[in-house]
Amino acid sequence: MSRSKFRGISTLLTLASILSPRLALALATETCTQIQQAVSSASAVYYPLDLLGNYASDISHWAASSTQESTCSVEPGSAADVSVIIQILASTNTSFAVKGGGHTANPGFSSTTGVHISMKRFSGVVYDAGSQTATIGTGLIWDDVYEALEPHGVNVVGGRVSGVGVAGFTLGGGKFELGKLVAFAGVLTFCYGLTVDTVTAFELVKPNGDIASITEASDPDLFFGLKGGQNNFGIVTQITLKTFPQGQVWGGLITYTLAQIPAVSAAVAQFVSNVTDPKAAIIPTYNFLLGQPGISHVMFYDAPTPPPGIFDAFLAIPHLTEDVSTRSFTSLVQSAPSNATTGARGAFHTVSLLDYSPTVISAILNETIFWGSHLAPFSGSFISYDIEPFLPTIFSHASTTSAYPPSRPDPAYMPLNLYFAWSDPLSDSIFHDALLQSTQQLTNVAIGEGQAVADAALYTNYALYDTPLERIYGDNVGRLRSIQAAVDPGNVMGLAGGFKF
Ligand SMILES: *[C@@H]1O[C@H](CO)[C@@H](O)[C@H](O)[C@H]1NC(C)=O
Ligand SMILES: *[C@@H]1O[C@H](CO)[C@@H](O)[C@H](O)[C@H]1NC(C)=O
Ligand SMILES: *[C@@H]1O[C@H](CO)[C@@H](O)[C@H](O)[C@H]1NC(C)=O
Ligand SMILES: *[C@@H]1O[C@H](CO)[C@@H](O)[C@H](O)[C@H]1NC(C)=O
Repeated sequence: MSRSKFRGISTLLTLASILSPRLALALATETCTQIQQAVSSASAVYYPLDLLGNYASDISHWAASSTQESTCSVEPGSAADVSVIIQILASTNTSFAVKGGGHTANPGFSSTTGVHISMKRFSGVVYDAGSQTATIGTGLIWDDVYEALEPHGVNVVGGRVSGVGVAGFTLGGGKFELGKLVAFAGVLTFCYGLTVDTVTAFELVKPNGDIASITEASDPDLFFGLKGGQNNFGIVTQITLKTFPQGQVWGGLITYTLAQIPAVSAAVAQFVSNVTDPKAAIIPTYNFLLGQPGISHVMFYDAPTPPPGIFDAFLAIPHLTEDVSTRSFTSLVQSAPSNATTGARGAFHTVSLLDYSPTVISAILNETIFWGSHLAPFSGSFISYDIEPFLPTIFSHASTTSAYPPSRPDPAYMPLNLYFAWSDPLSDSIFHDALLQSTQQLTNVAIGEGQAVADAALYTNYALYDTPLERIYGDNVGRLRSIQAAVDPGNVMGLAGGFKF
């Protein structure tokens, strides 16, 4: 395929997008054909009428609001083919998307009407006992990674709920899971830092098609940028992470109904202010379901049995259901019903807090009831607020800096993760506005009691799609813009969605 042919198509595409969406579609189809002809037999291209369901599974996302019908889906099977593909997309100026695990709820972040790239064939987990690292394909979800590492008695610092992808999670900073219905408290973060703090190398296909291993030594700027800077610098095909010993753990899910909320809230406040054991974690989720607030609470201890005292208060409160035991890490990640809203439209947003004080916790309950009741008339309405307490040492584990978080080790913000779900596309803006109002209200409550969080950096993977870059990356925005301009002067990655530098 010659460069001049690409340029010809590019001009046509520009004309097409002005002239007619139908013509643009025809030209994206032409791009799909070119890719099909250029890639090796390790890769495949699928179309909407694919009877075997490859196309449908490639484009599908956990949240319906982030699925779009693409012109074709491409499953590259090697970094060399990703290189061929990105050069064709650049030359034809075709919109595209890159999907790893498909867990983002932000529309267009890993979906497109152009060429959809599914990373699912990058599915290797290679453990190297000598260097104590694991090299992981970016098409995987963390569940697969934990399961593959379990026989070796090791683990990596990854997502804490079932179904979260390796790629988006790590490239977004890898601080916490994307909270689903119920989040899971992976305590490894407390001991070893954020996932990005444990990355030793990224295999990156750059926008010009070059394939490179990006490490602190080989390219400090890109290494910094990839740690939280999402898909702005190319397509990541593999990530090498440090591994840590992992044995049996203790924990699971316990749920409470309305009458127990005051007791659970008090126990949460006590845990936040008094528990400093880095092996212990909780994620209480305040949700609104079937006309009432309730709490889904996940507990975690990184040993077969927790010391007495830490979780006793939660176990003593009368509960609706309980699934708490000594178990494997994989079993704990999968213990929560994280896919209960699969197929709904959904959105996350977040507040960064310095303290989960009793005042803040009570405001969270008030928001749960206020928005739960207010939005109940909308079909499929589901409201949840995940409280994610972290120790003040959370950002102190890295020897190098990263795109996210913009300041270390202080302030050690703790995220509150809001997740709202609904069914009707016509309600999108109502739920979007509700998320903005509710996060503003809670921010005001925190400021009102003296927390300096008015400009607190928001966690990349929880931030709603229209969050200004400065609210996520703070003073790092300027450096990230120059790193992006250097690696991608033609702004090829601008053809894909996401937070863009
Ligand atoms: C590429 O496409 C975008 C729209 O997707 C358009 O804004 C831009 O001008 C195009 N660039 C070229 C070089 O045709
Ligand atoms: C923390 O522990 C201390 C001493 O046991 C106790 O007085 C205090 O009330 C606890 N804090 C909370 C919020 O329960
Ligand atoms: C959730 O996952 C379970 C186990 O994989 C599956 O049986 C169930 O159908 C899923 N539910 C939805 C709504 O996708
Ligand atoms: C409860 O939340 C609503 C909506 O944010 C707010 O207007 C109201 O003042 C809150 N009430 C209390 C007691 O905090």
